[in-house]
Amino acid sequence: MHKLFLLPGDGIGTEIMAQVERLIEWINAEGHAEFEIDRGLVGGCAYDAHGQAISDADMAKAMAADAIIFGAVGGPKWDAVPYEVRPEAGLLRLRKDLGLFANLRPAICYPSLADASSLKRELVEGLDILIVRELTGGVYFGEPKEITDLGNGQKRAVDTQVYESYEIDRICRVAFDLARTRGKKVHSADKKNVMKSGVLWDEVAHIAAKDYPDIEFHHILADNAAMQLVRNPKQFDVMVTDNLFGDILSDAAAMLTGSLGMLPSASLGAPDPVTGKRKALYEPVHGSAPDIAGKGIANPIAMFASFAMALRYSFGMVDLATRLETAISAVLDQGLRTADIAQEGKETVGTEAMGTAILKQFAA
Ligand code: IPM
Ligand code: MG
Repeated sequence: MHKLFLLPGDGIGTEIMAQVERLIEWINAEGHAEFEIDRGLVGGCAYDAHGQAISDADMAKAMAADAIIFGAVGGPKWDAVPYEVRPEAGLLRLRKDLGLFANLRPAICYPSLADASSLKRELVEGLDILIVRELTGGVYFGEPKEITDLGNGQKRAVDTQVYESYEIDRICRVAFDLARTRGKKVHSADKKNVMKSGVLWDEVAHIAAKDYPDIEFHHILADNAAMQLVRNPKQFDVMVTDNLFGDILSDAAAMLTGSLGMLPSASLGAPDPVTGKRKALYEPVHGSAPDIAGKGIANPIAMFASFAMALRYSFGMVDLATRLETAISAVLDQGLRTADIAQEGKETVGTEAMGTAILKQFAA
């Protein structure tokens, strides 16, 4: 029995989650696994219900789950709510309180979508980058974090970028371990030319790299990394970086593949010393897309691919994970497209039809 806690969130989150729920039901019905499902509220819908971006009761359920499957949060409806309870605060609390420090963001270009990329086909075809983003430290959480009134008509805003060596060490080791299972190359991106946290980042990364002599290790400045990602993205295998740079670079990497609507992510905690289990949250990289919410046209692929990552990383169900990823790829090869990845001459389908096609292919 595996406990899944579903947090569909806001906007298209609920629509794409509904498709993954169909898949989970099918997996249970066929006896491939026994998933127990519970559901909660996060983001704007949680604020509407309890005045908080996630309630303590739902945090407790998240804490007890084997994996959290997360949709998306936010929307213009909540633009004016107090900063502490804005929809994003729910996601940040989950990451921080569950210690989900390792954020894995693969950017894979499905061959049949290479033309949907804003870059030329030859630059992105076969692209397979894994961005490993530090997720519980840095400027997202550093204190002080405040705006003070200087009393002279001016205000001062402070965010604090702070990293301790253990935080850098553990995320670099996640990157090196993953590189061993793929292209055996790691780029570590920081701004050591202007930031002390970057100097420490690079120092710790180099020390960790010594334990991985089989991995080709490179330092890269984060701004150069952004440039190289759009110049020649296939030079990268695994890129490890801090919370803020990882946020930015992973959006850039994601778009190389044609659509933000395609990409999954996993956020993992440290393995429990006794059971070896990691707390984990799986979510699409895209947001709640309020502009298309409720229209039934959202692309559910990133949500399915996020569930595939859950099968792989939380439950060791590698065969089922591969089967799901292959089903996604096959459906794209057949020419099925949602509006965000529409191609000339190809019919577009809605969320439900895309879900049905992936389910059928998966079950075949
Ligand atoms: C992401 C998002 C979040 C972040 C937002 C929603 C807080 O952009 O997961 O990349 O900045 O981390
Ligand atoms: Mg982001």
